[in-house]
Parts: sequence; structure tokens; C-alpha cells
Amino acid sequence: IMTDWTECMNYGIHIAREAREAILHAFRIKKAVMLKSSPADLVTETDQRVEKMLISAIHEKYPLHKFIGEESVAAGEQLILTDSPTWIIDPIDGTTNFVHRFPFVAISIAFTVKKQTEFGIVYSCVEDRLYSAQRGRGAFCNDIPITTSGQEDITKSLLVTEIGSERDELALSIMTSNLHRLLEIPIHGIRAVGTAAVDMCLIATGGADAYYHIGMHCWDIAASALIVCEAGGVVIDTNGSEFDMMARRVIAASSSSVAHRISQVIRAFPCQRDDEL
Ligand code: IPD
Repeated sequence: IMTDWTECMNYGIHIAREAREAILHAFRIKKAVMLKSSPADLVTETDQRVEKMLISAIHEKYPLHKFIGEESVAAGEQLILTDSPTWIIDPIDGTTNFVHRFPFVAISIAFTVKKQTEFGIVYSCVEDRLYSAQRGRGAFCNDIPITTSGQEDITKSLLVTEIGSERDELALSIMTSNLHRLLEIPIHGIRAVGTAAVDMCLIATGGADAYYHIGMHCWDIAASALIVCEAGGVVIDTNGSEFDMMARRVIAASSSSVAHRISQVIRAFPCQRDDEL
């Protein structure tokens, strides 16, 4: 029997709307910034507060469900994805944007059962664009169906990527040479919005043709990976193999040919898996 998770998803959307209010309120004021894994990995009191708010609201309604939350993990909680119904939460994807008031910040909520994503919600708060997808039922932005561009030619593609927060020599040199090799193909251009979740949703809408990123975490992309697939796109590992949300590598594209062409051109720097942190 297939369980219908629509009620859970609607509740997720409901609490994401409440979280957006809290984020928009804090967006306008000056924030105290704390550092996490590197001088470019930022967190604020709002990230922590919004995550607590989301988790306690879900826990109240679904007391048996489990959680993987960015700030809970940063606070020392173990990151283990089990077969139990699990909410994977990033309260603010694009914290650096949030700190600078660069107007792209998103709430990302994915829901997995038996390690399979059943639905994903990405709420780009300032733009007021709510992306959602339920497995097998298509992808939507503000309730309107979305689809990828279908582009199959890398030379006609607009790419999106992120620089991330790594600042060590190896990561920087691999990252810049990846950009160099892609640009010389040539491609039409490269963009970075500053939130992995929104970047991926732009592939789902057809606004860009492909995205790649190394070093982000499962909570940044779990929801948007399903949104891309349900919009007709392809999501794979940067090495060309099957996507693994814990591996910290992703290519999302409008077509399999563009995805695999990117995987042939880029290299990944080593980073510890999320489930081995
Ligand atoms: C970050 C954003 C950013 C990406 C980083 C992520 P956070 O998430 O998605 O675009 O480059 O790799 O860690 O820390 O703002 O939730």
C-alpha cells in the first residue's frame, strides 16, 4: 500500500509560511554573525530560532517523525538517515545572503521515508516563490506546474553554480579550473544566486539549464533534488554516478546529456560525507 503524504506536505507548507514571516522580519535588521566550519560559513540567531520553530511545530503534530536539521547538526546532533519518516531542514539556505541582505534566502524542507524523498518544499522568501514537489506528482512554483528547459546542448546552456564556503588551496584551485574548463567549451554563461536550494529550483523552472555544486550538505539540496526530477530534469553525482544526497556533490540538469557532459569536464575536491561528519 502506498501512503499518501499530502497532509504532511500541506503542513510543511503551512509552517514554511510562518517561518518566512520570521525570516523577513529579521532580514531588514542588522544581524550578529557567528562562524561555523570556516570564516565564510556563517550562522545567525535567526537560523537557529527558525529551525527550532519548524522542528517543534512538526514534532507536536508528528511526534514519531525524525529530523535532520542544519543547526541541530552544527550543535552536535548526529546525522543519521534511517528508514523512519524524516524531515530534512535548512531554516535559511543562503545565510550569507541573509547577512548581507542580498535578496535570495530560502527555507528548504525535504521529507523522506525509507530514505526516499516523498516531498520537497523550497520557499524563496523575499521573492515569495514557493516551490514544491511530491514524488510522482510533478513540480510547482506557487501552484503553477514547472518544467525544465529540456536543453540538450551544453554550448547553448546557462549554468548555475556556487563558490561555497571552502577557502583552502585545493578546493579553490579545483573550483576555479572547473569554471575555466566549462567557460572555454564555450557555454552561454555562469550565474550564482547564493542558495543551493534556489539555484536548483531555477533548473526546475527552465530559467537555467544546469547546476553543479561540491561541498554543500544534504539539507541544502534534498528538497530541490526532488523538485528538479519532478520537473523533468536529471540529478546525478558530479562523477557521473547516481545522486547520493549525503555525498556533497550534485549536478542537476535539463537533460541527461548536459548533466553527463558537465561530469566529464569538472573535478571534485574531497569532502567528508554528511553521514560521516
Ligand atoms: C549554503 C548555500 C550556498 C552554498 C553553500 C551552502 P547555508 O547553505 O546553499 O549557496 O554555496 O555550500 O552551505 O549555509 O546558507 O544554509
